[in-house]
Amino acid sequence: MFAVFLLNFFHLFFQVRKFTWVLLFCSISVILLQSCDRKSPVKKYKIGFSQCGDADKWRKAMLAEMDRELSFHPELELIYKQADDNSLKQVEQVKELLKENIDLLIISPNEAQPLTPIVEEAFNKGIPVIVVDRKIASTLYTNYIGADNYQIGKMAGEYVASLLNRRGNIIEVTGLPASSPAIERERGFADGISPYPGLKIIKKANGEWTKPKAQRAVEQIKDELQQADLIFAHNDVMALGSSDAAKDAGNKHAKIIGVDALPGSGAGMEFISEKILTASLFYPTGGAECIRNAVKILNHQTLNKQTILQTLVVDSTNVRMMKLQNEKIISQQEDIEQQSGMISEQRRIYNNQRTFLYILVCSLGLAIFFGGLLFYSRQLNKKINKKLALQNEEITHKSEKLIEMSAKAEAAHEARLNFFTNISHEFRTPLTLITGPAEEMLKQPKLLPSARQQLSLIHKNAIRLLRLVNQLIDFRKIEFNKMKVRATETDLVTFTNDVVFVFHDIALKRNIDCRLLTRERALHVWIDINMMDQVLFNLLSNAFKFTGDNGAILVNIEKNNETNQAILQVEDTGIGMTEEEQKHAFELFYQGDHENHKGSGLGLALTKELVTLHNGTISLKSTKGKGCTFTIHLPLGKTHFAVHELKEHEAPVHQPENESNFLLSDLFPGGTIEHEEQLKELTVPESTILIIEDNPELRQFLKVQLIEKYEIIEADNGIAGLQLAFENLPDLILCDIMLPGKDGITLTNQVKDDIRTAHIPVILLTAKSSAEQQIEGMKTKADAYITKPFNFSYLDNSITSLLANRHKLKEYFSSGIPVEIRNSAHKHTERKFISTFKAIVENNIANDEFALEDICKQMTISKVQLHRKIKSLLNSNINDYILNVRLQKAKYYLRHEELSIAEVAYKTGFSSPAYFSTVFKTKLGVSPTLFKENPIDTNKKNNN
Ligand code: FRU
Repeated sequence: MFAVFLLNFFHLFFQVRKFTWVLLFCSISVILLQSCDRKSPVKKYKIGFSQCGDADKWRKAMLAEMDRELSFHPELELIYKQADDNSLKQVEQVKELLKENIDLLIISPNEAQPLTPIVEEAFNKGIPVIVVDRKIASTLYTNYIGADNYQIGKMAGEYVASLLNRRGNIIEVTGLPASSPAIERERGFADGISPYPGLKIIKKANGEWTKPKAQRAVEQIKDELQQADLIFAHNDVMALGSSDAAKDAGNKHAKIIGVDALPGSGAGMEFISEKILTASLFYPTGGAECIRNAVKILNHQTLNKQTILQTLVVDSTNVRMMKLQNEKIISQQEDIEQQSGMISEQRRIYNNQRTFLYILVCSLGLAIFFGGLLFYSRQLNKKINKKLALQNEEITHKSEKLIEMSAKAEAAHEARLNFFTNISHEFRTPLTLITGPAEEMLKQPKLLPSARQQLSLIHKNAIRLLRLVNQLIDFRKIEFNKMKVRATETDLVTFTNDVVFVFHDIALKRNIDCRLLTRERALHVWIDINMMDQVLFNLLSNAFKFTGDNGAILVNIEKNNETNQAILQVEDTGIGMTEEEQKHAFELFYQGDHENHKGSGLGLALTKELVTLHNGTISLKSTKGKGCTFTIHLPLGKTHFAVHELKEHEAPVHQPENESNFLLSDLFPGGTIEHEEQLKELTVPESTILIIEDNPELRQFLKVQLIEKYEIIEADNGIAGLQLAFENLPDLILCDIMLPGKDGITLTNQVKDDIRTAHIPVILLTAKSSAEQQIEGMKTKADAYITKPFNFSYLDNSITSLLANRHKLKEYFSSGIPVEIRNSAHKHTERKFISTFKAIVENNIANDEFALEDICKQMTISKVQLHRKIKSLLNSNINDYILNVRLQKAKYYLRHEELSIAEVAYKTGFSSPAYFSTVFKTKLGVSPTLFKENPIDTNKKNNN
């Protein structure tokens, strides 16, 4: 049970904490206080008792009576002092008692007069005073207790008269003369014998209440002693002394009478029994009455001023009975004392038990309380747990629902995305079916001008729609988190060059100065080429859209070493944007208020998302009417990408389906027909295509389809194909991947790794169609990858486009525009060759003694090889190329820097200003001075 209680207690301790502690502490405190109270009860009153002396048995008996009575009053404390029968000492002792702040004074004064003032003082202070036995000489006390001493004296006198038959000689032995009992007893005795003239007090002796003094005094009155028939002593001890003195004096017949008749051994009653004394007047001590009356006074009960105690004569006739009575009384008193002791013991036991009971009750109470609390808390816990369980169930249910809903939502999103993608793809086919026939019709030479214009409009808008659909698909992919970055390390300069190059035609056509400016030879960044291609394409097509003819679009690349960023800027001199337009430029579906060009609100939003996917930022600065500058900040390094976003081991390749040129067609002012015509112009009829295909039917089909436009060489296996490639150096290789002898991928790698054939575009054909396989194909450095079954016109377009690009490249390099090397990202060997060549030329541009041998030496190549390669790649001879570079540089200095003609001449490696002017005018049709004054006109001339 106790263990359970303890368990409960400790359990609850943790539950009710502070409150429990407080309660427990209070309970234990109460119990301890209670138990202390029972063991040593609080004394309520202090009683001072001043006794004149306690050498004799009567005084001892008085004190014993008091003690006995006190045992019934635990609330009383008795402070006891005795003065050895010395009045002065007693006065001092009373003063000490008063200092102790007693509540009541009991005094049995030695002598009346000396003690009266101090008793009056105490009484006047308000301290109740009980005078016992002997009196004071004043009425200023509360209560007097004692037998009537006058009556005692008188009774003694009367008894003596009867005893002596009214005749005889008497000796009276008195007590202390100044003490009231002595005075009163003497007076009473005199009155008692006065009716009997035959009775004579022949002598009085002062015994001062003690035996020795009385004996001595009586011994001194020898004559009277001989004659004495009776000696009356004021107390029994003096009577005993007198008896001894009389016997010693030979008076054995004299009767001896005393006062007190104290029971017990060696006291008055025993002397009577032993016939030492004839009789004694019973004089009670009043000890018990003192305590009883004190209690009454302290409890404010009414009390007579005098408490007179009874007396009687004890002699041989009644002593036996008196003794018996007294013995009985003593035995009863002993019983009472014993019982009182037992009661005290019982009370102690009772108190202990009560304390224990209190503890038990309190513990029980606490146990019940804590038990209740525990029960309550358990109930509460149960309720809470139940509630929690319900809530939990509800939450689980809700979360399950949420999961279900989110799965549904995801599925719905997925479905939406799929639907969106599918429908967007669906759009592409009809759009292609619009652009295709439109293009075919536009080829008709006999078309009416109005019809041509309308068809151009149809074609242009279909292209525009196609681009929008592509952007929408991409945007949705980003939105649905489906657009995954595939970052590869790429030279941003070369890459940007490639994209800028795509705009070359349109720039030429519209006389827009579109260039890449950079101090960086190469700047390696981690980007997803296809995404960044789109970003740049969007920014550039945007710039072209809003820049008027003869304007400028400058692309700038910088490296910020402090922020470790690549900065790419596209700056145009177009119509610019208002502040309001700038604020919303990157918002989806925001369309600026442009008169001629209503944007879709997709391009820039998509651009921003794509840049964000690269952890980059894009910002815009513009002044209305003065153009726009878009700035992209891209972090350098690759730590900002997740591991899965890094494609470290993949060579940077463009997606095969590069529709840039096609999609650009709507930017041409006149419509697609001119573009088409231009493409035609760019097609090189003498171009040779090497077809390597093991399937004879397909090889035949391709041959028949292409023979009109190209010279065809065929091979039915890889080994023969490679050999033909080296022998004939065709302009393009069309090659199946699955080939006997040597597969298409190995063949392509060998073609691209050989400096002789590296420049030849390769298109790979295969039945494999998965994206991974396409990427695998692209890794071979192939220029395009077309899956079977293929649309022939798509293949035809790809061939035309590749050859045209190549032709443009040749033209471009031969034109020597002094910007960074441009090339497609996948023509690495070729690009490296040209960039090395170009760097050597650029570095020596101011050196007029710079010669062909210097280049060959630096490139470790023979003059013949260098000539062939440059001819093949740039369609130019080396000297013409260097001259062109010098002239382009000169144009740049004349246009942008405050230099004199002479300074420009020397800076561009001409031996004299005159020679420079001559060459400049011959080549560019305008003198350097005129060019400096009007650079645009001259530039136009040059470009044309
Ligand atoms: C005791 C005593 C008694 C006597 C009383 C008178 O000291 O002498 O024997 O009766 O005092 O005060």
